[in-house]
Amino acid sequence: MTINNPLWGAELDHIRLDTADPSKTASFYRDAFAMAEKSLGDGSILLQGEDRRLIVGSGIAGDQPYSAFRFADEAKLATYRAHLTAQGMNIMPSPTPLFAKGAFAVSDPDGRQMVFGVVDQTQAPGRSPEGHPPGRMQHVVVATTDLAPMMAFYEGTLGFVPTDHVMRDDEDGGQTLTAVFYRSTKEHHSFAMFLSDAARPDHHAYEVSCWDDIRDWADHMAALEIKLWWGPGRHGPGNNLFFMVEDPDGYKVEVSAELENMADDDPVREWPHNERSLNLWGQSWMRV
Ligand SMILES: [Fe+2]
Repeated sequence: MTINNPLWGAELDHIRLDTADPSKTASFYRDAFAMAEKSLGDGSILLQGEDRRLIVGSGIAGDQPYSAFRFADEAKLATYRAHLTAQGMNIMPSPTPLFAKGAFAVSDPDGRQMVFGVVDQTQAPGRSPEGHPPGRMQHVVVATTDLAPMMAFYEGTLGFVPTDHVMRDDEDGGQTLTAVFYRSTKEHHSFAMFLSDAARPDHHAYEVSCWDDIRDWADHMAALEIKLWWGPGRHGPGNNLFFMVEDPDGYKVEVSAELENMADDDPVREWPHNERSLNLWGQSWMRV
C-alpha cells in the first residue's frame, strides 16, 4: 500500500506560527525548547536547534498558516508534484525560506497550506545549546469542524496513510469519527486531525529518545517556571509518552517519546472516543 505512495518518506520539517507579538513568542520557543533565534528578512523569526526549527511571524495570534514537509531528494519532490498536478491541484509558490528552489504549496479545505520541498542546505538546522536533551520536530495536528473534506484532501489527494481512527458512540446509536492519525513514514503519525467546534491549529510535537528525556525537558520547563499543561501521560493512538505546555498565545506544544512504529500493511485501527484513549494514564484534553 505505502510502497507506491509518492508521499511516502516525507517528514515534517518545520511549521510557521503567527502571533501579535513575534518577539515574545520567539523568546518563549528559544528558551523553552532550547533553540537559537535568528531574524529573517521579512520580519519573521527563525528558531532552530538540532532536528527542530520553526518560523514565528506576525499575524493572528495562535494561527499556524503552514506546515512544511521535506522529501529526501529533488527526484522524490518532482514525482510528488506530478502526482498532485495530475489530480488537478492548484500548485502555489512555497511560502517558506527554508526549502530549496522547487518547493511548492497546496491549500487544504480549511485554508491552511501544506508545503513540500527539500532542505536548502544553507538553511539547515544547527546544533542545540549544550546540556539539553534531543527533540526532533515530528508531528503537527490541526482541528476542524468537518473531517470529511479534510480526509478527502489529506488522505485521498495528498496520500497520507491512516493509522488510527477515534470513534464516538452517539446517543442515536450511530457513530461519529472524532480524530484521524496519519503517517507518511513508519512512525505512527506525522499529521493528525481532531473534530472540534472550530477550524484551528491544535499542537505540534518534538520527539525525544526516551522517558528520561521527558523528565529532563520537564525539569527544564520547571526551571523556567513553565507549567505542564497536560501530562505526563501516555496516548492510546501512538502509544507515546508525552506532556504538553502552552506558548504565550495558548497554542499547545508537545514533548513525546516512544511513538509507535507501524508496518507498511498495518490496517487502520479504531479507538473509542473517551479520556482513556487519549491518555491511558488519566485525564484527557477532549476537543469535542
Ligand atoms: Fe501530538
